Amino acid sequence: MIVGFVGSGSMAAAMARGLRGAVEAMVFTDGGSGRAATLAAEVGGEALTTNGELAERVDVVVLAVKPAALGTAAAELGGVKAVVSLLGATSLEKVSAAFPRAEVVRLMPNVGVEVRKGVLCVAGDPDPALREMLGTLGHVVDLPDSQFDAATAVMGCAPAYLALAVEAIADAGAADGLDEELARELVVETTAGTAELLRVRHPADVRKAVASPGGSTEAGLEALDREGAREAFEAAVRASLGRMRG
Ligand SMILES: NC(=O)c1ccc[n+]([C@@H]2O[C@H](COP(=O)([O-])OP(=O)(O)OC[C@H]3O[C@@H](n4cnc5c(N)ncnc54)[C@H](OP(=O)(O)O)[C@@H]3O)[C@@H](O)[C@H]2O)c1
Repeated sequence: MIVGFVGSGSMAAAMARGLRGAVEAMVFTDGGSGRAATLAAEVGGEALTTNGELAERVDVVVLAVKPAALGTAAAELGGVKAVVSLLGATSLEKVSAAFPRAEVVRLMPNVGVEVRKGVLCVAGDPDPALREMLGTLGHVVDLPDSQFDAATAVMGCAPAYLALAVEAIADAGAADGLDEELARELVVETTAGTAELLRVRHPADVRKAVASPGGSTEAGLEALDREGAREAFEAAVRASLGRMRG
C-alpha cells in the first residue's frame, strides 16, 4: 500500500515512524514549511510539491492537517479513493461531505503509534488491507463517531497526563538523591509493568495490592487524596473536552 500524508506535523510523524517498513511507500506534503522533506528523509519516503500529485500517486490519503485546513486540502486533493482523517473534533460526516467520492474513515490515534503501541479509535468501515495497516500501529478500537470526543480525552490527550505523572514521580526521587536518569528509568519501567498488570487486574485491585495497611504506599495515596490528585485528573479530562467542543 502506498500511503500519502497530507500534512507532516507531529501526528503524521508519529504514524509514519510506526509504519516504517510496514507499507510499500510513503509520500508527504506540507503547507510550505519543509517538514515534509525532513520527515521523508527520516522515515525513507518522498516529499511531493503538491497535494494534486500526491493524490495521483497513493492508495490512501492520511489527512493530517489542522481541522481548519479541511476545505483547502480536499479541493487540492480532488478525486482520491480512500481517506483516513485524523482531524480532531471533526465528524466523519463532515469529512465524507468534503470527499464525496472517497471511502472515508475517521481515525484518532495517540502518540504510541510511533512505537507501534498506540491506541487507534476508528469510525467508518476500513477495508481489510487498511485495517491490517492500522493494526501494525497498535490496538485498534471501533467506535461510533459520536464518542470520539470523549475517547480523545482519555486516549489522545492522556499520554501527556501520564507523562506528567511519570516526570513528577521521577523528579521527586531525584530530589531525594537518585540520579535523574536512573529515577526516570525506574519510573518508566514501573509504568510499563503497571500497564501490563492493569490489562488483567482492576486499578483498584492494583492499588490495594501495593498499599498494605499502615505502609508507605498507603501514606502516599493518602497524600495524593489530600492534594486532590483524582480531582485534578478529572479536571484535565473535562478541560480537554471543553476545548474540543469549543
Ligand atoms: N498531535 C496529536 O497528538 C494528534 C492526535 C490525533 C489527531 N491529531 C490531529 O491531527 C491533525 C494534525 O495535528 P498535528 O498535531 O500533527 O498538527 P501540526 O503539527 O500543526 O501539523 C499540521 C501539518 O499540516 C500541514 N498543512 C497545512 N495545510 C496544508 C495543506 N493544504 N496541504 C498539506 N499540508 C498542509 C502543515 O504544514 P506546515 O508544516 O507547512 O505548517 C503541518 O505539516 C489535527 O487535525 C489534529 O487534530 C493530532
